[in-house]
Amino acid sequence: MRPLVEPHLRDLLPYVPGKPIEETEREFGVTNIAKLASNENCLGPSPRATAAVQAALAKGHLYPDAGAFALKARIAHLHDVAPAQIVIGCGTNELITHLCRALLGEGDALLNAWPSFVCYRIGARIVGAPERTVPLDAALNYDLAALADVAAADPSVKLVFLANPNNPIGACFGRDALEAFVARVPDHVVIVLDEAYAEYVERPDYEDAVALIRRRPRTLFLRTFSKIHGLAAYRIGYAVGDVEIMQILDQMRDAFNVSALAQVAALAALDDVEHIERTRAHNRAERPRLVTALEGLGLAVTPSEANFVLATLPESLPLDVPALNLALLQRALIVRPVANYGLPRSVRITVGTQTENDRLLAALAEIVGAAGSRT
Ligand SMILES: Cc1ncc(COP(=O)(O)O)c(C=O)c1O
Repeated sequence: MRPLVEPHLRDLLPYVPGKPIEETEREFGVTNIAKLASNENCLGPSPRATAAVQAALAKGHLYPDAGAFALKARIAHLHDVAPAQIVIGCGTNELITHLCRALLGEGDALLNAWPSFVCYRIGARIVGAPERTVPLDAALNYDLAALADVAAADPSVKLVFLANPNNPIGACFGRDALEAFVARVPDHVVIVLDEAYAEYVERPDYEDAVALIRRRPRTLFLRTFSKIHGLAAYRIGYAVGDVEIMQILDQMRDAFNVSALAQVAALAALDDVEHIERTRAHNRAERPRLVTALEGLGLAVTPSEANFVLATLPESLPLDVPALNLALLQRALIVRPVANYGLPRSVRITVGTQTENDRLLAALAEIVGAAGSRT
């Protein structure tokens, strides 16, 4: 009998999202939940975006502008590129999948670092493309030299995603490392820089890919409105790059893939400098405080430039992540276990409000302290 679904789809990886607040309330009978699991903006959505959406609600009966003219013009201005170099997606996730569909044909492979954002792997599996995987180095940074070696040696490599900063680690690489990598990757390989957390980065040698896409046609970058702008619920992100690739992506997307409210919200959020700056300042103050306190509890924390940190339980502690996670959920705190990223003793923690972080740290002190006293 012919297979019901394409055999390669049997290998699909489910995307495991952060545990939803409502589900946690139902399962654990708790309220006042702090969700520190999905790297959302703890300060909420851009107020300008919310006001713009409220004003647009009366036009809820009209289809959106399928070409997203106003938003593309604003993004083009932001990055000094042409509107034709931009595609708007229903979240960057949609664009990641479309890129895999558009670029990975028969005999083509995805080059991926691991761990890195799982949706690149999911995208390759959707199209049935093989993945060449290069592990992160011992410090959990991208091993760009090893990635370039594979890209140069394996002619099947066609597409590579680099999350800069990387998820679930938070680390990023600087200009020199990126330049050295790009110089060694063959011209036919499409390099995608996923800059979902770029706005949080403080590192002085960090460079986004705008200059690079001008020099190297097969390079593009992704941005999202889900993180610093606080618009994850709206589902909107974009890709910037080579017109030839963008035209194809634009034709592949559903005609009205991005709602009118998402477009209006995104447009307003880009001008909400105050919200962006307040969010940055909050992260700049709270992330180091969280890191110091987590380290004080004996957890190892990987250096992060994003709005989250990766914290790892010491081997010596008789506490595993499922037990830790359960104890946190019972205290109305949601963090993200990352065993699915091959990090079974780590959790990813989004930087929350000061109150949320205090609650988390107090709960951890209790749980880790109790486990420590059993040693
Ligand atoms: C590195 C990275 N890229 C992309 C995304 C997805 O963003 P979006 O909400 O725009 O689909 C995320 C979300 O967590 C992410 O961490």
